[in-house]
Amino acid sequence: YFVTCIECVMIKSGGVIGRSWAMLFASGGFQVKLYDIEQQQIRNALENIRKEMKLLEQAGALKGSLSAEEQLSLISGCPNIQEAVEGAMHIQECVPEDLELKKKIFAQLDSIVDDRVILSSSTSCLMPSKLFAGLVHVKQCIVAHPVNPPYYIPLVELVPHPETAPTTVDRTHALMKKIGQCPMRVQKEVAGFVLNRLQYAIISEAWRLVEEGIVSPSDLDLVMSEGLGMRYAFIGPLETMHLNAEGMLSYCDRYSEGMKHVLKTFGPIPEFSRATAEKVNQDMCVKVPDDPEHLAARRQWRDECLMRLAKLKSQVQPQ
Ligand code: NAI
Repeated sequence: YFVTCIECVMIKSGGVIGRSWAMLFASGGFQVKLYDIEQQQIRNALENIRKEMKLLEQAGALKGSLSAEEQLSLISGCPNIQEAVEGAMHIQECVPEDLELKKKIFAQLDSIVDDRVILSSSTSCLMPSKLFAGLVHVKQCIVAHPVNPPYYIPLVELVPHPETAPTTVDRTHALMKKIGQCPMRVQKEVAGFVLNRLQYAIISEAWRLVEEGIVSPSDLDLVMSEGLGMRYAFIGPLETMHLNAEGMLSYCDRYSEGMKHVLKTFGPIPEFSRATAEKVNQDMCVKVPDDPEHLAARRQWRDECLMRLAKLKSQVQPQ
C-alpha cells in the first residue's frame, strides 16, 4: 500500500512497512492517508497502529511530541487512489516486492499527480532505473529504503534514479530527518544498495565459516552480538579503523597488509545448501524454535531491546 503525507504523506499499502511509515509520519505531525487495494488491510492497519501507539505511549517510547490520540487523529484510510493522492507532498509506496506490480502503481500515480509531489518507493532491492523508467514525473521519483523494524531502526537509504532531481533527494532527506529517521544518500544505484551489500558480505563469510566447521552457528552469532555489534551500534567500520590506530592513515600503514592476507583466504559465494541450512537451523532452534509463537516472542524481545538502545543512543549522541 502507500502512505501519503498531506502537508503530508500518503502511504500506499497497509502491510508491515506501510504501517510503520504511517506511524513515523504521524509522529512528525504529518497528516497521513493509507491506501491499499484490500479494504480489510486498511482496517487491520488502523486497528494495529492504534494498539501499538497506545502501548508505546504507556512504555514512554512513543516518538514525536504529540500524544498517541493526537497522532492517531492524523492517520486515516482512503479507499480511493485519486483522493488518497490529493494534496500529498510525499507518497510512500509499500506494496509487495514485485517489479511489475510496482511499475504498474507508479504508472498509475504518474498519470494523476502534479509536478510537486515526491513519489517514493520502499523497495529493498529493485533498481530505481527499472522502477521509474519512462515516467513523466521521473525527476520526482526516489527510493527511500527503510530497515525492518523502521520504528526502531532509523536508517533510510535514499537511492535516486539517474534522472531524479537533486531537490527531490534534498526534500526527502529533510522529510526523513523531520520524522526522526536517519537518511543517508546512495550516490549511484547499485544492486543491494549499501545496507544489503554489507549485510550479505557478513552473511556470506558467516556461512563459509560454519560450512567449513570453523565455528558453530551460535558461536558465530556471538561474535557479532557480543563483539563487533557492540561498537557498530555507535560507530561504523571506517571510524572503527580510525580509532583503532592513530587515525585512518596509521591504521592502513599498520594493518593493510595483514587484512589483505586474510581477505585473500575468503572462499567463493556460498550455495546456501539445504544441508548447511538445516545444520544452522538446528542450532538456531535451540534458542528460538521456528514456530510462529516463539519467533513472534523473540521479535518482540528484539524490538524492546532496540527501543532501549534507541533511548541510550539519544542520551549519548543527542541529534
Ligand atoms: P506486505 O506484504 O506486508 O504488505 C504489502 C501490502 O500491499 C498488502 O497490504 C497488500 O494488500 C498491499 N497491496 C498489494 N497490491 C496492491 C496494490 N496494487 N495497491 C495497493 N496496495 C497493494 O509487504 P511489506 O513487508 O510491508 O513490504 C512492502 C515493501 O517494503 C516491499 O517493497 C519490501 O521490499 C519493502 N521493505 C520490506 C522490509 C521488510 O522487512 N518487510 C524492509 C524494508 C523494505
